[in-house]
Amino acid sequence: MKFFIDTANLEQIKEAQSLGVLDGVTTNPSLMAKEGITGKDNILKHYVDICAIVDGDVSAEVIATDYEGMIKEGEELAELHEQIVVKIPMTKDGVKACKYFSDKGIRTNVTLVFSAGQALLAAKAGATYVSPFIGRLDDVSTDGLNLIDEIRMIYDNYAFETQILAASVRHTMHIVNCAKIGADVMTGPLSSILGLLKHPLTDLGLEQFLADYAKGNK
Ligand code: E4P
Repeated sequence: MKFFIDTANLEQIKEAQSLGVLDGVTTNPSLMAKEGITGKDNILKHYVDICAIVDGDVSAEVIATDYEGMIKEGEELAELHEQIVVKIPMTKDGVKACKYFSDKGIRTNVTLVFSAGQALLAAKAGATYVSPFIGRLDDVSTDGLNLIDEIRMIYDNYAFETQILAASVRHTMHIVNCAKIGADVMTGPLSSILGLLKHPLTDLGLEQFLADYAKGNK
């Protein structure tokens, strides 16, 4: 399972990269705004800065919502760096743009996916990644993990190569359960990745080992 971090914060990306378990980064316009990255030139430069930190795919989202606009913007994003994956919304024009990019060998991440039908369309259009938002489904009393399960079954039935990128991951159990179901990738905040480290028995055990060592090595 690949681990992506879902942020535009360079310090957090560096911290995750330094752990040695990071496979990529996802961003979205809200995450860029949260870091105060505004204006086209600054946004493009920020993507290049992220690519310099991480070894892996970096999703950069188009702002245009019409087909021609998405193509223009997506081509510009893809030109920035070989690690860039063009992130496209799950709309009619988005699906058409996904097919266009896929035919041209430009990698894509179809985002804002909330149903198995949408995921099927993304795969048919040749998406590299599909991003079902599990946390946002949980927010509206719908089981996000169930969607991952449905998409896994559909993709396996037809050997679709599109990778399931479980997005809107909020905590460690989302990650563990996505791994059990067989999501190819998860993207979440740094806290969800660091949360995997934690177990009180690890802390207690280490404390005991060090205390015993200290007793015999005064
Ligand atoms: C996915 O690529 C999105 O950036 C992200 O996972 C959305 O997460 P949120 O629902 O926590 O905003």
